[in-house]
Amino acid sequence: MTFVVWRNKLIQNRAISAGLKTKMSKEQENGTTQRSSLHGHWSSRFAFILAVTGSAVGLGNIWKFPYIAGQNGGGAFVLVYLVCVAVIGLPVMMSEILIGRRGRRNPIATMALLGEEEGSSGQWKWLGALGVVAGILILSYYSVIGGWTLAYIPKSISGAFTGASAADVEAIYAGFTGSWVSVTIAHTIFMAITVIVVARGVERGLERAVRVMVPALLVLMLVLLGYAATSGSFAEGINFMFTPNFDALTWDGVLQAMGQAFFTLSLGMGAIMAYGAYLPEETSITVASGSVVIADTIIAVLAGLVIFPLVFANGLDPAEGPGLVFVTLPLAFGQMGGGVFFGTVFFILLSFAAWTSALGLVEPGVAWVVERFGRSRTQAATMVGGTIWALGLGSVLSFNGLAEFTFLRGTIYQNVEYLTSNVMLPLGGLLIAIFAAWVMCRNSTSEELRGVGTSYKFWRFLTRYVAPAAILLVFLQAVGLID
Ligand code: PHE
Repeated sequence: MTFVVWRNKLIQNRAISAGLKTKMSKEQENGTTQRSSLHGHWSSRFAFILAVTGSAVGLGNIWKFPYIAGQNGGGAFVLVYLVCVAVIGLPVMMSEILIGRRGRRNPIATMALLGEEEGSSGQWKWLGALGVVAGILILSYYSVIGGWTLAYIPKSISGAFTGASAADVEAIYAGFTGSWVSVTIAHTIFMAITVIVVARGVERGLERAVRVMVPALLVLMLVLLGYAATSGSFAEGINFMFTPNFDALTWDGVLQAMGQAFFTLSLGMGAIMAYGAYLPEETSITVASGSVVIADTIIAVLAGLVIFPLVFANGLDPAEGPGLVFVTLPLAFGQMGGGVFFGTVFFILLSFAAWTSALGLVEPGVAWVVERFGRSRTQAATMVGGTIWALGLGSVLSFNGLAEFTFLRGTIYQNVEYLTSNVMLPLGGLLIAIFAAWVMCRNSTSEELRGVGTSYKFWRFLTRYVAPAAILLVFLQAVGLID
């Protein structure tokens, strides 16, 4: 029922100051199906774009994108990722927002409501439930990596990276992640901060933080880009990222590129649907989605452009895995002028980016517990957060005590990561596309997208045919059912 408290307050404050009624009746008198959210509405398109960008931009862009691009050979992977963002990510984002705005409830209730309203079935609520579970599983490891970024703040301040060699920085990384105690402490702090915010709500502070964070992150990435450009291996880095070598890409790599497109845009699990519930009727979904997709993609590509030149300049391995960013960037900070300052600011910003994404991951679960079991937000946040924390211990131990314990895709962390990004999110996205373009009638979607023109037709074509077909094709190829 409720969404992240600080956002509600922010929305309410804004709605009140904009003179909007914050509690409006469900149906409007004119007999259309337009309804209002109990929580009020975003005051402007900009506020909405900012919130969605806060959820989208996170560890996925700066930590995950370079590392899985590196593991999948670079160029061809990046190309497939960009294509997936454009032909699957963008239409699915528009679908999630339009579904959210039409239902104006939490994702499970919205899916049940619209499923019935569109003459299908209330059982579509299970699609919302899939999102709740995906959010919980993703956060279980996301919080562990979020903890790493927190732990790197004091390391930067102390000057641990100043003048360090590649081997030194790798030793710091291995020493830190190899100790389950340190990683558990970091994971616990990250999860605790998330739970406190979800339970209590931070009012204006976080809103300001988000406003500053994304632009500041962008500026810092540009500073780092300037540094990477003088590293001596810039051309090699660009070449690695943009020269497609399809021999290096397997169908499983294509699935990972598609999974990354969903992950980085926060799609396929209802987070964006929940945000859409507060979007005013008159805002253009197409423009808002396009802006978020572009901002998110720019940050990810910049991260790659910074990291790969540094990898090659320092003789590191682009396929080294989750530690890639935690080794290359400290190395750069250790060598550049003002590195202690830039490094500290960078890890603070990255922690913030991770945190704003984490709120969106946990909220569907918290909202569900509040509604289903009639708990208070504090109790719900503690219960859901506690469960996520406990599940996260599996990921903590995947880097130390249980590093040798592998099955299916590898360690516990690798399995949870693979299952969520490459199975649950694309599956959620597939069902969302099917719902928006096959179950919802044309009148409903064209009303939300204000469309009869080319852009509406294009959205419908992509969502009806291209996105579902592409998702299915990649799934089937990756599991080897067709070739
Ligand atoms: N998009 C976020 C990131 O890139 C992760 C995320 C996924 C957040 C799904 C919310 C929902 O880090």
